[in-house]
Amino acid sequence: MSILDQIELSNTPEHIAIIMDGNGRWAQQQGENRLFGHNFGVESVREALKASQDLGVKFLTLYAFSTENWNRPQEEVDGLMNLLVTTIGNEVDELHESNVIISTIGNMAGLPKSCQDKLAEASSKTKNNTGVNLVLALNYSAQWEIVEVVKDIVKDVSNGVLSVENICKETISSNLTTSGIPDPELLIRTSGEHRVSNFLLWQIAYSEFHFTDVLWPDFKKEDLYKAVLDYQSRERRFGRVSAQIENNR
Ligand code: FPP
Repeated sequence: MSILDQIELSNTPEHIAIIMDGNGRWAQQQGENRLFGHNFGVESVREALKASQDLGVKFLTLYAFSTENWNRPQEEVDGLMNLLVTTIGNEVDELHESNVIISTIGNMAGLPKSCQDKLAEASSKTKNNTGVNLVLALNYSAQWEIVEVVKDIVKDVSNGVLSVENICKETISSNLTTSGIPDPELLIRTSGEHRVSNFLLWQIAYSEFHFTDVLWPDFKKEDLYKAVLDYQSRERRFGRVSAQIENNR
């Protein structure tokens, strides 16, 4: 039986988030520079998206550039920004045809203008689609996002729009850049690293984690199916005990 046939389609995650890692090591293995790895990583983005479409996943969030990634060599940063602009430019029509909605999370104002423009164009073109939401995390870090939320809440309190007693989980969720997006049920990280690296810290409170040794440029549809199969083998207790979960079945 193929991996896809083993997946229970009625129990797939609504939202999958991926920390795409290992492009540099993959390139090094090929005797090439790091950008070669990032270029190949784009093909894996296609694979992950197609697999999400196969499974009826509604949101696919990809950690494409963190606020910490600015510390990489300038040549790599410039190469990644160019790759983003050219990839969005080349792919937007096909993504639109396949009903994909393109959106972003992160500090867009800190990206080069060409990048901001391409992303805004892609997002506006695809905003009325009804298929998979491809959420690109760019110039994103969870700590940055939480600091911004704190500032917004403090402003609302000082302006008298919000009282301290009324601050609750929803106040925070609705001020995050992911507002309106359900929390990911499944977080995947490639390349054998077992870290969260400042990604969606609030939103992954109850996510299942799937770590794979596969380097991102080698990631194929089957690797996403495997992650979903692994997810389906977990018992999600949300703080309760096993017997309570069984009784609710
Ligand atoms: C991590 O691998 C990868 C990145 C920081 C960049 C990921 C970007 C892409 C795959 C291009 C995405 C394009 C679009 C359109 C979304 P690494 O460089 O940290 O690898 P290493 O740990 O082996 O050095």
